Amino acid sequence: MDRDSLMQYRYFLKDSIRKKVDFSQTDQNRGTDVPPIEKPYQTDAVRIDLVKPGDWRDIAKIDLTAAIGRRRSRRIYRKETLRLEEVSFLLWATQGVRGKIVGGHAYRTVPSAGCRHALETYLAILNVEGMASGIYRYLPLSHQLLYEFSEEQLADKIVDAVFGQPYPGNAALTFIWTAIPYRMEWRYGLAAHRVIAIDAGHVCQNLYLGCEAIGAGTCAIGAYDQEKMDRLLRVDGEEEFAVYLASVGRV
Ligand SMILES: Cc1cc2nc3c(=O)[nH]c(=O)nc-3n(C[C@H](O)[C@H](O)[C@H](O)COP(=O)(O)O)c2cc1C
Repeated sequence: MDRDSLMQYRYFLKDSIRKKVDFSQTDQNRGTDVPPIEKPYQTDAVRIDLVKPGDWRDIAKIDLTAAIGRRRSRRIYRKETLRLEEVSFLLWATQGVRGKIVGGHAYRTVPSAGCRHALETYLAILNVEGMASGIYRYLPLSHQLLYEFSEEQLADKIVDAVFGQPYPGNAALTFIWTAIPYRMEWRYGLAAHRVIAIDAGHVCQNLYLGCEAIGAGTCAIGAYDQEKMDRLLRVDGEEEFAVYLASVGRV
């Protein structure tokens, strides 16, 4: 392995960059408007109301110790639908807004550096009760799902975009998280990118624990074809791009 490249990539993991950033020059400190909390959408777009926390009827209340103890990557799923209530729970667990929204910050069920929450959640839905197959996006502020588009042979395309790993093709749905890096860069400049990656880990861990609570399973997927995945989501690959995935199904 070429030593210079190794050093360059290790550098990304370190926080040395922080001492080089002139924070007085970040967009936040120069008075640029705070970027939107969630990616904007057409107001006439189809949106599906999700079941709200407190209205859940059939979400098991399992012991946290049991959920942590049982957690594992589950790659084999039964051909069973997931219910909208269960999907609502998983979305809330991974990105739900809790509490107050102030000055462009929305506190969520997961932590985020500077409360910037630079991730968006897409779902590639194959088998959810009452929902057409297609690509959807979570709207944390209203706890809704935005219908983005349908895609022929979605199962095959998503498998292809993860280098042939088969589980997203057999899953009820796959979470695909994208980053909108400017949301974090606005506050942290060049120190933004490492913490976006750290943020994604928290989100997926809540998905793992949430799945254990509902008799489902998930497998994190970090290996995917960047360009194919971005094309599948119809995002531009620069201002927004895929960073992480996780297939979900009944086990
Ligand atoms: C960042 C990250 C990326 C991963 N990418 C993949 C992947 O692309 N394919 C896969 O089958 N598993 C993937 N995994 C799952 C790991 O293989 C799994 O967590 C590991 O083998 C430990 O097993 P456990 O989760 O059951 O404890 C990933 C896990 C993480 C945290």
